Amino acid sequence: MRLKTTLLKEPKHILFMVSCVGWTTADELYSCSEDHQILKWNLLTSETSLVVKLQEDIYPIDLHWFPKTVSGKKQTQAEIFVLTSTDGKFHLASKIGRIEKSVEAHKGAVLAGRWNYDGTALITAGEDGQIKIWSKSGMLRSTLASQGSPVYSVAWGPDSDRILYTSGRQLIIKPLQPSAKVIQWKAHDGVVLKVDWNSVHDLILSGGEDCKYKVWDSFGRLLHSSSSHDYPITSLSWAPDGEVFAVGSFNTLRLCDKTGWSYALEKPNTGSVFSLAWSADGTQLAGACGNGHVIFAHVVEQHWEWKNFVITLTKRRTMQVRNVLNDAVDVLEFRDRVIKASLAYGHLVVATSLQCYVYKNWNTPLIFDLKEGTVSLILQAEKHFLLVDGAGLYIFSYEGRLISSPKFPGMRADILNAQCVSLSNDTIAIRDKSDEKVILLFDALTGKALGDGKPLTHKLEVVEIALDQCGPSTERKIALIDKNRDLYLTSVRHLGREPKICKIGSMVHSMAWNDAANILCGIQDNQFTVWYYPSVVFTDKELLPKTLYIKDGSEFSRAPHILNYVGTKVTLRQGDGSLVYSSVLPYPALLHEYSTSARWEDALRLCRFAKDQSLWACLAGMAMANRELTTAEMAYAAIGETNTPTTEFIDTSYINFIKEQPSKESSLAHMLMFSGQVQEAEATLLQAALIYQAIQINIDLFNWERALELAVKHKTHVDTVLAYREKFLQKFGRKETNKRFLQYSEGVEVDWEKIQAKIEMELSKEREKAASLSVRSSVTSRR
Ligand SMILES: *[C@@H]1O[C@H](CO)[C@@H](O)[C@H](O)[C@H]1NC(C)=O
Repeated sequence: MRLKTTLLKEPKHILFMVSCVGWTTADELYSCSEDHQILKWNLLTSETSLVVKLQEDIYPIDLHWFPKTVSGKKQTQAEIFVLTSTDGKFHLASKIGRIEKSVEAHKGAVLAGRWNYDGTALITAGEDGQIKIWSKSGMLRSTLASQGSPVYSVAWGPDSDRILYTSGRQLIIKPLQPSAKVIQWKAHDGVVLKVDWNSVHDLILSGGEDCKYKVWDSFGRLLHSSSSHDYPITSLSWAPDGEVFAVGSFNTLRLCDKTGWSYALEKPNTGSVFSLAWSADGTQLAGACGNGHVIFAHVVEQHWEWKNFVITLTKRRTMQVRNVLNDAVDVLEFRDRVIKASLAYGHLVVATSLQCYVYKNWNTPLIFDLKEGTVSLILQAEKHFLLVDGAGLYIFSYEGRLISSPKFPGMRADILNAQCVSLSNDTIAIRDKSDEKVILLFDALTGKALGDGKPLTHKLEVVEIALDQCGPSTERKIALIDKNRDLYLTSVRHLGREPKICKIGSMVHSMAWNDAANILCGIQDNQFTVWYYPSVVFTDKELLPKTLYIKDGSEFSRAPHILNYVGTKVTLRQGDGSLVYSSVLPYPALLHEYSTSARWEDALRLCRFAKDQSLWACLAGMAMANRELTTAEMAYAAIGETNTPTTEFIDTSYINFIKEQPSKESSLAHMLMFSGQVQEAEATLLQAALIYQAIQINIDLFNWERALELAVKHKTHVDTVLAYREKFLQKFGRKETNKRFLQYSEGVEVDWEKIQAKIEMELSKEREKAASLSVRSSVTSRR
């Protein structure tokens, strides 16, 4: 990826430095200079025209257009911008350059002016060390801060409820709410000159006189520090989607990835670049240059890879497709600028400023028009894809049909990124921005909230989510990473019951599901880890650690990030920006396929052939989940051979115990107990009218109250419960204190012989019933 820059031969603001720039559309830019001129640059016609010549005493410093879209709604207000100047004023100016209002704001220069995201407030920062908040019409609301040194730069937080500003070498984050906590830290070894704060991922940029730029999270933790440049960093700006940012210095323009490493360095003849601005669609960058120039740049040579195809954006409207198998090259041309693209599941989806192109082969794309020109995210599933723009989320089929458009209260589509949205054939999951513990779940086909509409709530803030892609929709799972970097797995369709959210990893920094089997890979504590069968945690969580493949991560450089996991190939981006690949054996995927199609013989053969303990552990879990006891027994025995005998001995003998249950229902109930699903086990028995058995499993688990409750309710085996309870208390040398047990033991005599006989009778009744059922079913099947 690099920047393609354009600079006119002669500057338009002759002999004067350009102080600020701002885009109205992706093709039109305003620039202001010390020559008092405001110029308008039309990129389509390449014309530059004078908007207005300001009064001689106005020396502009900063310019910011009023936000165009607010929470998906187009602003009705006429287009205005704020212009700050050296004389302590800010000016509200119209598009034709008329100054509508000038306000005395600070002593000395007004160094920065920024609208908040919904346009309800303006913030100004002054040479006088003050920060003031103004209403939309320019009425003073409050003075937010006052310090002894100039405030060079300010930025709003993602929710417009906090601001970030410079204070000498320090950075300060101050909430608007007076009582809330202020965060302050030393950021640079010189005065900080510029800051920016991205609303999509909440990351902060700073640059200063120490000639460095840095990336921070919003708690002030350093994520990246650049090496020292030759000159101070005079400007920096996040691209709206937060994927990249630009940095300006003397004769220098840099393009960086969000993690801070540099994609490209340009050395244009610009003097110092004092201000940088991205167009709203993120395709264009403009810089205000110290030598009177305005520099334009756009990003080219972005790559997308999938299986044997590598696609490169070669020009703004052109892509090159290379098939690495035969080196065949196709060229794709677009009418308008390419804004976003995605390549997966055999389809290339490209959003330009006006249209969406869907390619299955390279010569006949399907094309449809887009309402809004600023697609900020494309996600693909095998069946359909998701487009996100400033106004909302839309699911389209690969035939170009709009399928659904989920909505929810407080939706802000402009800040959604790939970490907090996930798509599968049947489900869309969105991490809620207003409460980051919450994951909203929608049916992809209808756009309606799933099930009872209750979202999934985790105990901690969630930072990344991913839906698995295979198997029936009823078994759809979501993996989530929370603020502590713990990895959890849970079901998205859980039929009204509280979903079990099970931990499957810790210190996980990046993850991706495989496209063809529900296998998950991730970077766990700097080790590359593959969860061959993550769902095993719901069947037998003891098996989980045995189903992992862990590879030492030392071959990767710092902080690798997983881009995708297609087939057997995992693509990672390393801390220095380079791509590396890791491969996973094909056996686990094959085992998933055999299990899905109940080909247990094949599964056993595969495990015997591969001689891999982790595969046997997967098979044990898969067979248990599918109630395939014979296979489960063999698989458990196989892992038992090399592992500690005691636990494994229990595993296989427990399976024998399950197999020897008098009826199918009892077997099922014990399997459910085995995976910790006690309520389900009890419900299974009660449904089959196996009351004694339901009581007994509660006794086995020391659920005394529940056992007694069932016995009393069904008027049977009250004495059994009392007898076991008595034995239990005796064993621990304790006296009965439970009121209900005291109450019932008064009228009931405990006779162990009688109880034993009754239990025998229950079991033989169960056996007889099961036998007669199986005879009946074999008769029907013969008929
Ligand atoms: C997803 O949809 C595609 C296309 O309709 C289909 O071929 C595939 O089997 C589906 N996958 C699942 C897991 O349902």
